[in-house]
Amino acid sequence: MKVVVAKNYDEVSRLAADIIVKELQANPCATLGLATGSTPIGCYNLLSDFCRRKQISFAKVKTVNLDEYVGLPSSHEQSYAYFMRRHLFDNVDIELANTAIPNGNSADIEGECARYSALIKSLPRDVQVLGLGSNGHIGFNEPCTPFDSTTHVVELAQSTVSDNSRLFDDLNDVPRRAITMGISEILQARKVILLACGANKAQAVRDMIKGKITPDCPASALRKHPDCVVIVDESAAVLL
Ligand code: GLP
Repeated sequence: MKVVVAKNYDEVSRLAADIIVKELQANPCATLGLATGSTPIGCYNLLSDFCRRKQISFAKVKTVNLDEYVGLPSSHEQSYAYFMRRHLFDNVDIELANTAIPNGNSADIEGECARYSALIKSLPRDVQVLGLGSNGHIGFNEPCTPFDSTTHVVELAQSTVSDNSRLFDDLNDVPRRAITMGISEILQARKVILLACGANKAQAVRDMIKGKITPDCPASALRKHPDCVVIVDESAAVLL
């Protein structure tokens, strides 16, 4: 695991975007694994700028997202489907048919997990972008998720519900369940970039990099990956 400490959020975003731009310039047909959350927004904005300036194109790119809430329609402003359109897909030349996000509104949630798992298998990712939960989660793989997990339904940890409640009008509106790509599937990407910013991530960053490799900190599984770059800002790095 390579760790890069950047000065601030803008530099984290720029370093992450640079890696993806190089990948897309070398491999215009790349498959990207994408994350939601506030952290990757700056990176997605930069990628949209690069695309507008015609320095990269998403015309032949495929994407698979990490996770989605159960029970929110894709038109809901807090659904991850909506997030991806707003922060990336609507701003670049991607074909929506080439993008994939779990359907958290499926009538058959277990069937949807199996479908998504098969899809991931058929689309090996060249680069996987990740954020980090303040409890060390990646995707929505909460603490104690086995490292060999595949796509599954998860009951969100209380800390995750409370972290994500800032984006909803009311705590009671935050979905309690989600579908997430599993840890074993995350680790299958050829290259992984994890981004973390802010003091509230400092403990999780420390546990991920310096703690034991254990399901108690799902992100610690990334230390088993042969090509994982962690890019953090100075506030998230204070405990290193
Ligand atoms: C959510 C997402 C994660 C994301 C995390 C951190 O729980 N499921 O994929 O990494 O939030 O979000 P933020 O970047 O907003 O801190």
